[in-house]
Amino acid sequence: MSPKPRVFSGIQPSGMLHLGNYLGAIQQWVAGQGEKTNFICIVDLHAITVPQDPAALRRQTRELAALLIAAGIDPQQTTLFVQSHVRAHAECCWILNCVTPLGWLERMTQYKMKAQKQESVLAGLLDYPVLQAADILLYDTHEVPVGEDQKQHIELTRDIAQRFNYLYGETFVVPEPVIRETGARIMALNDPTAKMSKSDFTRGHAIRITDEPDEIRWVVKRAVTDPGRDITFSDDPTRAGVNNLLQIYELATGLSRSAIEAHFMGKGYGALKNDVAEAVIEVLRPIRERYYHLIDDPAELDRILVIGAEQARAVAEPKVRLVMERVGFVLAT
Ligand code: TYM
Repeated sequence: MSPKPRVFSGIQPSGMLHLGNYLGAIQQWVAGQGEKTNFICIVDLHAITVPQDPAALRRQTRELAALLIAAGIDPQQTTLFVQSHVRAHAECCWILNCVTPLGWLERMTQYKMKAQKQESVLAGLLDYPVLQAADILLYDTHEVPVGEDQKQHIELTRDIAQRFNYLYGETFVVPEPVIRETGARIMALNDPTAKMSKSDFTRGHAIRITDEPDEIRWVVKRAVTDPGRDITFSDDPTRAGVNNLLQIYELATGLSRSAIEAHFMGKGYGALKNDVAEAVIEVLRPIRERYYHLIDDPAELDRILVIGAEQARAVAEPKVRLVMERVGFVLAT
């Protein structure tokens, strides 16, 4: 029997999770549990590449762990851990920094976008994708399930792995991005030309995983659509709002596109919004309930994260030792 494929993905503890994170990434992580060997990492080292309030970061790290478990990540089947608990990530990142040309990092679109919003750009922000490469490569990862916005970072990870393997001999598995067709890029509800984002707190922009039913109805009712009438899936950018709502409905109900188009035939946008809101409410309701239960017991969450860190270290530490050996370090015994 061939060994199970290794899956690694990460998520930042910076702000409340939204529907885009859930539909674009977390749903896939949950679906793959059992048949694959999953590592899911709460990436606090990445979060501090832009300024964070220490107390908020600590709180959000536990909240994110609770949300991931509430959303279906099973710590018995998935290694769920916090990045800073496994030192190998920072150690490997440093070594990869020293094989990564600066030009590769300056090209990254996420860097350019985030840098524009900062008064003073931190060196860590430019280095962000190298740390992400270290995350992935330490675990001999085959598959990286992510939303569309991470594709360029995974391609960079592949380039770094290939360069290291060329310079120092076969060391890293070259990973593949896994990006869903539907849900890879959930758009903002108040502006379907922009991606739904954790860092936009405008009411109406996003649906947070913990939002109450009334808030979800409020946000969906005000979602931007278009002056047309057709309720069909389409790539037409002028119909991005309706298409976004339909994709959300598709993922929330699990129905086929043809069944969805038949369901909405002859109906108006009011009916579409009503059905989307109710479908989202039903998907998020059990997650929200489990979340409030879990967040009440921080000691249990910390216990789960301690076990996750031990399991992650068992893979990452020997790997970083191999990397150190390859570049010529005298290993500490
Ligand atoms: P982060 O925390 O921004 O997002 C977590 C996951 O959610 C996906 N996502 C979306 N998917 C669809 N529609 C959206 N609007 C949307 N917004 C976010 C993201 O693509 C991501 O999969 N750099 C990563 C964290 C990271 C990582 C890694 C990922 C660090 N190391 C190693 C994979 C492997 C990030 O900031 O994700």
